[in-house]
Amino acid sequence: MGLEDLIAVLTTDSETAVVVTDGELSHPGPTILYVNGAFERMTGYSRAELVGRTPRLLQGEKTSLATRRTLGRALRQGKRMKVALINYRKSGEPYRCEVEVFPILDRDGVLINAVALEREVRRGPGRRPNADQA
Ligand SMILES: Cc1cc2nc3c(=O)[nH]c(=O)nc-3n(C[C@H](O)[C@H](O)[C@H](O)COP(=O)(O)O)c2cc1C
Repeated sequence: MGLEDLIAVLTTDSETAVVVTDGELSHPGPTILYVNGAFERMTGYSRAELVGRTPRLLQGEKTSLATRRTLGRALRQGKRMKVALINYRKSGEPYRCEVEVFPILDRDGVLINAVALEREVRRGPGRRPNADQA
């Protein structure tokens, strides 16, 4: 069973959006191999529209260049990284998102895949962060 099949089994019904890519970092990669249903719902793109594309399609003018560079550097170094950034849905609507990327290296330290767990962060009037626990 390949990695994306394993992740698919584990995350089909997960509330957390999950995306798996290959390890090709240079343009036009990385290439999306799998997204779960929560990722489809969050982004507004279907799995068929995402597989074969790059996560960069979620970026737009409000996506911080510095954060993109931080992600790119972490991937090249094979380091796990968690960032908050602005992604764009298929409709064009921006949303704030926490993205935690897990590089998957082979035994020689070569990046072969990456998996990201993504969660939309809603902020605004009447809803403080952690208000649930207050
Ligand atoms: C699994 C995975 C998920 C990613 N998800 C996002 C994302 O949701 N939003 C985003 O702006 N970049 C995301 N990226 C980062 C971009 O694909 C790319 O690595 C980043 O823009 C840095 O590379 P670049 O400087 O060549 O653009 C993701 C990368 C990987 C490997």
